[in-house]
Amino acid sequence: MTQKWDELKKEFIEKIESAKDLNSIENIRIELLGKKGLINGLMTQMKDVPKQEKKDYGMAVNSLKQLTESLIAEKISNLKEADMLKQLQEDKIDITLPASRGKYGTLHPLTVVQQEIEDIFIGMGYAVVEGPEVELDLYNFERANIPADHPSRDMQDTFYVDIHRLLRTQTTAIQMRVLENEHDMLPIKVVCPGKVYRKDDDDATHSHQFVQVEGLVVGEDITVGDLKGSLELLARSMFGSNREIRLRQSYFPFTEPSIEIDVSCHICGGSGCQTCKNTGWIEILGAGMVHPRVLEMAGIDSEKYTGFAFGVGVERVAMLKYGVDDIRHFYTNNIKFLDTYKRFE
Ligand code: DAH
Repeated sequence: MTQKWDELKKEFIEKIESAKDLNSIENIRIELLGKKGLINGLMTQMKDVPKQEKKDYGMAVNSLKQLTESLIAEKISNLKEADMLKQLQEDKIDITLPASRGKYGTLHPLTVVQQEIEDIFIGMGYAVVEGPEVELDLYNFERANIPADHPSRDMQDTFYVDIHRLLRTQTTAIQMRVLENEHDMLPIKVVCPGKVYRKDDDDATHSHQFVQVEGLVVGEDITVGDLKGSLELLARSMFGSNREIRLRQSYFPFTEPSIEIDVSCHICGGSGCQTCKNTGWIEILGAGMVHPRVLEMAGIDSEKYTGFAFGVGVERVAMLKYGVDDIRHFYTNNIKFLDTYKRFE
């Protein structure tokens, strides 16, 4: 009898050990421990066992059942662990693979150029000052020596908010605020960047909104030579160290004398091409010595102090520098266009 139990035990152990995966161990569990399984079969046979042997028989079946249950539980946990190890092995991450890059934004080309201009002057000790875009007529025109009936108001068609307020047409308005605020803290050395607005019809070279950077220096003994030197440095930093600059007489109500600055064409080097309309020169900014009346209106003694100022159009510089043929590209937010300028960051 004992031999029968030993054989059964051996048979069960071998069966359980032979299971290769969770599926087959489940089938074995059903075969051995299920309702219609072998162990339940042995239980039902109890009724045919002679009375005096029933106790031993029952104990033997029970011990076989317990052994089977614990072996199967152990097998299942081993198989699960093996499964997990296998999965870990297969899912191994190769940390040497290049990471997939997300799409990232970029500074707008106009911001890049504006910051470049600012940086050149910050390097020369200038402070950066900003001002309001909705500006008083007082600072945009009156203090800039452009009274109400002055013909040069027609040069800059203006968006008025009411009779006193307007969208500033020039960063020169910031210059006028600085002169007023700092008239007793000379010398002044500032650059004033900002958006300006004009009632222009938009086309390839005109936009009703654009960006200027104004520069202003006021102190004792400031001369046209200082103006020329500073702007030469600006032109060379922006367009290359071998650029020449040329001063041309011009007119602005807030400067006397007034000049416009041309830089020798960076495409043809001055021999003449389409970009410079065969002149060899490209106009980049307006400038001049601050008009004595402008200084006086701000409370500065024009006998003692002099100054120079300039205003540069950021779009114009960006178009020249990067060969952009239509100013509207800067404002249509075309990702393809903007992506081209990632390299300039
Ligand atoms: N405000 C002028 C414009 O918008 C540019 C300018 C010219 C600014 C000469 C200046 C200057 O400060 O001195 O056309």
